Amino acid sequence: MYFYIETFGCQMNEHDSEKMASLLMESGMKLSPQLDCADVVVVNTCCVRQKAEQKFYSLMGRLRSIKKRRKIIVGVTGCIAQMEKNHLYERLPFIDFALGPSSIHNILHAIRNVMDYKPLFDFSDNGGAPSIFLNPNKGAHRIKAYVSIMKGCNNFCSYCIVPYVRGREVSRESKDILQEIEAIARRGIKEVTLLGQNVNSYNKGRDDLPFPELLKTINSIEGVDRIRFVTSHPRDISDSLIDCFGALEKLCEHIHLPFQSGSDKILSLMNRGYTSHGYREKVDLLRQACPHIAITADCIVGFPGEDEDDFEKTMRLIEDVQFDGLFSFAYSPRPYTKALNYDGAVPREIALGRLATLQKLQRNITHAKNRAMEGYTVDVLVEGTSKHSPYDLTGRTRTNKIVNFTGPEDLIGKNVAVTIIKGYANSLRGEKVREKEVMHA
Ligand code: SAH
Ligand code: SF4
Ligand code: F3S
Repeated sequence: MYFYIETFGCQMNEHDSEKMASLLMESGMKLSPQLDCADVVVVNTCCVRQKAEQKFYSLMGRLRSIKKRRKIIVGVTGCIAQMEKNHLYERLPFIDFALGPSSIHNILHAIRNVMDYKPLFDFSDNGGAPSIFLNPNKGAHRIKAYVSIMKGCNNFCSYCIVPYVRGREVSRESKDILQEIEAIARRGIKEVTLLGQNVNSYNKGRDDLPFPELLKTINSIEGVDRIRFVTSHPRDISDSLIDCFGALEKLCEHIHLPFQSGSDKILSLMNRGYTSHGYREKVDLLRQACPHIAITADCIVGFPGEDEDDFEKTMRLIEDVQFDGLFSFAYSPRPYTKALNYDGAVPREIALGRLATLQKLQRNITHAKNRAMEGYTVDVLVEGTSKHSPYDLTGRTRTNKIVNFTGPEDLIGKNVAVTIIKGYANSLRGEKVREKEVMHA
């Protein structure tokens, strides 16, 4: 039996899909290269913005027509399943099972139930945590791996649905995380990304390693060359975490630190718990600890109550900080959230106009930053061949920038010193200098 998983949304969802794929493969099912050839199609969903939902419903339209022609099992997992619960089945009566994000470990059970005509719809308690203990892709040969360190979120930013669909924060015990990373290192995986909606509050209030200590311990695991983590909340980023950037040689020089808005009025309405000045101070501290750190962020325009002056403040923050990259979104009203009932809705055309202005500014900054790397030699972990040319390899710098260069396939999975010869808008072109035998040599 062949299965196919379509994933929408964030890295947590990508990782959840890997976990489900791993369970299905262990049971003897095979991964189908295409949706059209699969017997079981799992759609792992995201509801963070309306657009993600629209993409999901259009895929479901396609699956419904496939199902009319061919007998397939269709399951919906993840955040839309949790948001809609049983209404999902009312809207999409042709689906065979649905699992919320805390129930994905039941995927096999759900598929077997369908065969016994007992459809499973499990949105069980948001607090329980068995899903984060799954350790995916045990057999696969890979270069990078995700490791969940916690799930859920307690922050309740006023625009965000995540706490309602992923539940409250639950940290995983450090000894389990360390065991998983040791196993990953033994498999030859070079890069580990620790995942959590707000990693700074890992183990908050518990008698176990705080996040900076966890990083220090992982730094001493032999075999792992690179450590990354997502996501940090600017309010909670502590001095001891900032110090890790200068001190731990495996911790990559990159942080994703969403600011959401440059206006204190909007930040307060968003319930973010810091000011624009406070955000800038954190950036300064990070750059003092680690001068070449790359900083990326998320931001929202068109939040209710945002006027031209607030938007200008966001533009000024972007100009002042000079982000290496930015994910920017037009505000999307979401069910359950506090901002849904706020006054001062910004008309869609205005929000989209602001978004285009902001993205133009950021494109220029990113391009200029990439051009400024020309002539420098950087450490690249080679991830594979380029999608655009069979002769090119592609990899990432420690600052998380994509580098393409010509080289033999046996460099895949290795650290290579590459000189940057051209900085483009979204990537860098390089030339291989040498294969690095010793990291940071
Ligand atoms: N936990 C992470 C990311 C959560 S979702 C964090 O707190 O940083 C990723 C991004 O989606 C957010 O940072 C925010 O910029 C954006 N986002 C979330 N809800 C949104 C909404 N209702 N409308 C527009 N963008 C939203
Ligand atoms: Fe959403 Fe805020 Fe939690 Fe991030 S920190 S997941 S934006 S509520
Ligand atoms: Fe989307 Fe759920 Fe992630 S709503 S952003 S998939 S936590």
